Order: sequence, then structure tokens, then C-alpha cells
Amino acid sequence: MTERIVIVGGGQAAVSAALRLRAGGFGGSLDILSEEPVLPYQRPPLSKAYLKGEFTENRMYLRPDALYREQGISMRLNTQALMIDQINSRVDTDKNTKIPYDKLILATGARPRGLPDEIGGGLENVHTFRTLADANLLRDKVRPGQRLLVVGGGYIGLEMAAVAAGLGLEVTLVEVQERILNRVAAPETADWFRALHLKRGVDLREGVGLRQLVSDGHRAVLAALSDDSAVGVDLVVVGIGVSANDGLARAAGLAAQNGILTDEHCRTFDPDIYAVGDCAVFPYRGEPTRLESVQNACDAGEYVADHILGNTIGPYVPDPWFWSDQYDVSLKIAGLNRGYDRVLTRIGEREGGLSVWYFGQNRLLAVDALNDPKSYMMGKRWLGQGLTPDTAALSDPNTPLKAVPTLITPDLQPSFNPRGTRP
Ligand code: APR
Repeated sequence: MTERIVIVGGGQAAVSAALRLRAGGFGGSLDILSEEPVLPYQRPPLSKAYLKGEFTENRMYLRPDALYREQGISMRLNTQALMIDQINSRVDTDKNTKIPYDKLILATGARPRGLPDEIGGGLENVHTFRTLADANLLRDKVRPGQRLLVVGGGYIGLEMAAVAAGLGLEVTLVEVQERILNRVAAPETADWFRALHLKRGVDLREGVGLRQLVSDGHRAVLAALSDDSAVGVDLVVVGIGVSANDGLARAAGLAAQNGILTDEHCRTFDPDIYAVGDCAVFPYRGEPTRLESVQNACDAGEYVADHILGNTIGPYVPDPWFWSDQYDVSLKIAGLNRGYDRVLTRIGEREGGLSVWYFGQNRLLAVDALNDPKSYMMGKRWLGQGLTPDTAALSDPNTPLKAVPTLITPDLQPSFNPRGTRP
């Protein structure tokens, strides 16, 4: 009998699981432990509308406090889970409480990687960006005329550069790899974003790393770069990727490798402990996969709730999608481009719109739609139905998307099973 469910983590995955448990009729005790001092909030707008000052803090909360109370969800804020006591099935917290569970859901998320202290990571004006607290700190500092150095040309770095350039800061962005978006997108998408940022006045330097921040004792004032140049700085934002928060699971002896390993039901080696969202690795198309997205947090959270309630027995198979907003551009991504061996582009219907289509072994894997909502919608539909479009017709802008012939291409079945990989 499941009478007590504890969720560790206070993000989107935690809230989705909790609300679905209640919606599915779970009447037992339900605790959310969040180390953050505020109610769970949306993360994507932090680096966009919130930083620009367009959203108030209230608008960021996923649900109002009253809803958690109405739903009988005990929201324990400012509370860190210190240890999972598997023998006694309870979680020890930093508030000296021991919270018993029948099922435990780990939704601990990820944390941004920082710069090493030796090169200036600990200086006052050097920031990483993940939480509402990070955004509040930065919101007070992004002022017109300030010189901002962004380290990292992933989506966080580019979004930060876009907001700051829009607010009138002087922005330099350095990306250590040969091009921006190297990890997540094809050169075609990177080219499009590069052109956009250059047009908006961002000094974008690829193949250039940060060598050293020079300080005045407290703050970084100068950045020495790997191409032997130097730029003056008032503010530094570091967006060099994230690490999964898997320490709690690891300390409990659960398998983890930059993410808590789970099976196709999002369950760890301990059948009473699940892991979902940014902190979890699950089998997707036969490979261990960690997805950093709102879609995955919501869907996996709901999936686990259904699984605990006995409402689902099939595997967790997400339809990944992502988005990013920069300046007046909306990027929407459907699918996961991992393992692509061919890319083609299609001119969008809107002026300046473009879609970048990824294929692997002649199968559609993903699409990046840049100011091109129709391609996103069609790509998502095709992916959902296991269809692959004819590439000649797709790259011809005169062939309407609806007229592009498609072939059925069955999905790969998950085969990775962490139950066999316990250390
Ligand atoms: N100097 C410059 N660039 C670096 C350095 C460095 N020392 N180290 C890493 N980078 C670059 C990487 O090459 C990569 O292009 O930083 C970029 C980081 O990109 P991501 O790994 O995609 O991470 P980030 O942009 O921080 O996003 C983290 O937050 O919003 C989400 O979608 C986002 O899930 C992602 C997460």
C-alpha cells in the first residue's frame, strides 16, 4: 500500500508529479521538500522576460500557495534532504526531521557549472544563472552601458546576450568550441543565431576561451582571453552547462553518472525510488539519456505519478521539445537530434524564417524552427506519428509542407537497463 509519498526537489517535475498524484486520486500524505526559499516557479522566463523586467515574481510561480494547501500537498520550503535512509524508508532533512515514505520521487534538477576559482569564478560580479535568486541578483545589475562578458555560447549564454544587448549593455560572448551551439544544434542553426547576434552588436567570439579574470581585489575588471586579447568587464555571466544533482542518490548507493540512472519506468535500482526531470537518466531510443527541458520535467513527473498509482505499465517514451527566445526570434525544437548524419534546411513562410531538419539513418530525428511555427508543428506531428518526410520535397520551399510525401519509419525500442549496471 502506498500511503506516503515524498518528493525531493521543488521544480517543474516535482509539481507535475504531485498534482497528477492528487488528480489521480492519491489520498495519502504528499510532501515536497525544496531547498529553495520560494514556491516552485517557471525557469525558462528567468533568462528572458523576467530578466528584462517584463514579468513580476508573482507571475513566475507555477501555482499559488493556496492550491498546494487545497490539494493537501505539504510544501516544505527552505528544506534540504540530507540523506535517504533506505532501511527505514525515510528522508533526513537539514531541519532535523525524518520524513517517512512508501515511494520517493527524486526531482532534484541540475546546477550550473561555475568557473574555477583560480580563474576568477568566485569574484563578486561573476554569476551563474539558474535560479530565481540568480535572476534577481542580475536584474539589479544589467544596466545600459555596462560591459558584460558572457562565457559560453549555449542557449543560456545566447539568451543572456540577447537580453543584455536589448537593454543597451555592451556584450562580448566567448565560446571555447569552434562555434556556438556546438553541443545542441547543427552549424546551420548556429549560423543563423550568429548572424542575428552580430547584427544586434554582440561581439561574438568563437574558438575563444576565457583564460583569466583579473580582479581589483573583489570584482573582475578585465578578462584575458585565449586569443591573447583582453576585454574590460563590469559583469560576467557564465553559461557553460549544468551538472545533474545526483549526490543524494549516489550517497544512497543508487547508480548515477551525471544523472540518476533509471529504467524505462523512471525507477532507480530501488523500486520504491523514482527519479525524474533534469536529474534523471532514462533509456530513450536504446541509449541512456538525460533531457534538460520543461517537457521532460512535466511528462516524466506525470508518468511517475501514473506509475505509482498503477495507471500505466508501458515505458516512459517522451516526445521531446524545447524552445528559446532571443530578441524577436522564437526558436522551437521538436525531437532530439542526437546521432544525426544529415541536415537540410527549408526557407520558412515568414520573412527570415528557417527550419533545420535532422535525419539519422534516413529517419527524421528533429527540427529546429526559427521564426517558423508551421515547420515546428509539422515536424512535431511527423515525429509523433513516426513519419519521415521526403527530403527533396521538404527542401523545396514551393512544395507546401502538407504536400510533402512521408514514409513510416518505426521508432527504436529502448534497450538500456540500469538494473544491470549497479556499481
Ligand atoms: N569558455 C567558453 N565557453 C565554454 C567554456 C569555457 N570555459 N566551457 C564550456 N563552454 C561552452 C560549451 O562549449 C557550450 O557551447 O559553453 C556552452 C554551454 O552550453 P550548454 O552545455 O548547452 O549549457 P547552457 O547554455 O549553460 O544551458 C544549460 O539550461 O536552459 C537550459 O537549455 C539549457 O539545458 C540547458 C541548460
